[in-house]
Amino acid sequence: MSKENESVSLETLVSLAKRRGFVFQSSEIYGGISGFYDYGPYGAQMARNLKDAWWDAFVRSVPNIHGLDSAIIQNPKLWEASGHVGGFNDPMVECNNCHARHRVDHLVNEEFSDLSKYAPLLEKAQCLTCDKYGQFGEVKTFNMMFKLNVGASEKSDSVAYLRPETAGPIFTNFDLVRETTRAKIPFGIAQIGKAFRNEISPRDFIFRVRELEQMEMQYFVNPKDEEAEYENLREFNWNFLLDVIGISEDNLQWHEHTGDERAHYASSAHDIEFKYPFGFKELWGTHNRSDFDLKSHTKGSGKDLNYFDTATNERFTPFVMESSVGVERLFLAALTNAYTEEEVNGESRVVLKLAPGISPVDVAVLPLSKKPELQKVGHEIYKKLVGDTNLTVEYDETQSIGKRYRRQDEIGTPKCITVDFETLEDKAITIRDRDTMEQKRVSIEKIAEELSE
Ligand code: GAP
Repeated sequence: MSKENESVSLETLVSLAKRRGFVFQSSEIYGGISGFYDYGPYGAQMARNLKDAWWDAFVRSVPNIHGLDSAIIQNPKLWEASGHVGGFNDPMVECNNCHARHRVDHLVNEEFSDLSKYAPLLEKAQCLTCDKYGQFGEVKTFNMMFKLNVGASEKSDSVAYLRPETAGPIFTNFDLVRETTRAKIPFGIAQIGKAFRNEISPRDFIFRVRELEQMEMQYFVNPKDEEAEYENLREFNWNFLLDVIGISEDNLQWHEHTGDERAHYASSAHDIEFKYPFGFKELWGTHNRSDFDLKSHTKGSGKDLNYFDTATNERFTPFVMESSVGVERLFLAALTNAYTEEEVNGESRVVLKLAPGISPVDVAVLPLSKKPELQKVGHEIYKKLVGDTNLTVEYDETQSIGKRYRRQDEIGTPKCITVDFETLEDKAITIRDRDTMEQKRVSIEKIAEELSE
């Protein structure tokens, strides 16, 4: 969130997201479904912009990182070898009073692998649903993978899973990608795609959802370079947030995972935490997965996933440095960071100061009135910008110009073009800047040039 408004509440963001068509609750007319959301028209475009920005930075501009787009459903043996069938669990407890189920670490704000350590803390813990204290049953583990049956049979041999992370198929495709691209270590494989987690308590709007999208990159390195490569990746992730997404550094901090906090595959893990309206929370994970994955899949599949370095005649199992961020968390961080309330001439103005390229609309074309002469020029400018530039352009002639500016400010549109009656005489329009609200007269011929600046 901006300096002008340090305290934007989650309710304010949820309301803006709905009012302006960014995010809706899934199947809202049926009462919704917990942990699932739909992106509305502006949200869909903004999520796409975030993914494009990530793909540009992590794949298109890096010669030794290769893209992948794998199936969501994989052979279940993959998730056995990866440790997810046995270990992708959250500790769960049921309230004896209201029977609500909660993630234990959310009740006691501690994480332990030894479940017995929770018992003394739970005696004093409060149920998040009925507010009663110390009414909890036994702590159990709950596997978060969504199970399904493939094909017409419902027998156990048809069981498969919706992938809980996009990383898994990156490891199983390691050799195929290496062979087809002739890549040499170090190289990366990246993909963007849906992942599914049956979260015990989805919450905080799109922060913790059951259907999410991940942007992950696995960088395969020589084990001797693990420390340097890990530090490089951490820095790369951090700089992407500052330079491309435009997140203010004050809203970010590092959190190193220690002991029980670390996932089963990670030998080191550092989260970038963002200052969400509900406090600093994990936005982006960087993990040193060591040789865990390639060794596990070599063992599970029988296929040798070691690497032979022709320059040094060494054979080794590459180490994996992982960068992993959820689109929803990045989306919520970008919204929170951009949300600004300002006083303008005694009135409050809400504006999303989103970075260029991230806002769902780049430029809006707004004829001052619905007079056909103005509409005609407005349509011509709209078509020309759509045809001649890569900008996302919106045409809007509904409501007063003041209300339309307000709407575009709340969507985060950096520039508005106003077509007025003088346009018919001087063949020029006004370009209004979202942040300064300054207006500049520009000849129609020069619009694209002006906007590209
Ligand atoms: N491949 C490693 C991995 O999946 P993770 O820490 O479990 O690691 C990585 O997840 C990122 O995915 C998180 O930092 C977060 O951005 C996002 N993420 C994970 N679970 C999520 C959920 N339930 N809802 C939204 N985003 C989630």
